[in-house]
Amino acid sequence: MLYSAKVMDHFTNPRNVGIIENADGVGEVGNAKCGDIMKIYLKIDGNVITDVKFNTFGCGSAIATSSIATEMIKGKTLSDALTLSNRAVVEALDGLPPQKIHCSVLAEEAVKAAVKDYYDRNSIEYDDKIFKNLNGCAHCHDSCSV
Ligand code: FES
Repeated sequence: MLYSAKVMDHFTNPRNVGIIENADGVGEVGNAKCGDIMKIYLKIDGNVITDVKFNTFGCGSAIATSSIATEMIKGKTLSDALTLSNRAVVEALDGLPPQKIHCSVLAEEAVKAAVKDYYDRNSIEYDDKIFKNLNGCAHCHDSCSV
């Protein structure tokens, strides 16, 4: 089987799909090569992510990784969410085929973009290095084979 049971579960029954009106932070990232787009909405109370929703216009792996990423950051602090790596997302899904690893990068980047948006809206200072790959060539990591 090319895809794990967890990938199939999150692809066919994705969690936290939708939009949060009046979100405190919104992150949108895209893969320039395949054209897939991921948008994540965060509701934040204090320093904690109290709700998260996503919309992904993309492949099954992008949907599965978005879905599990929302579960992984819900209820977490912003600093915890910023440590979410695409590797952790892939591990939580029991793996992805090598040619689909790049899809998981979208999930990591969308979470980071949403937190950055929250920081920017509230004039909260942060270390630029945390977001260095955003709005750049974030989707051209070595793992990308699109
Ligand atoms: Fe574009 Fe998966 S995110 S092919």
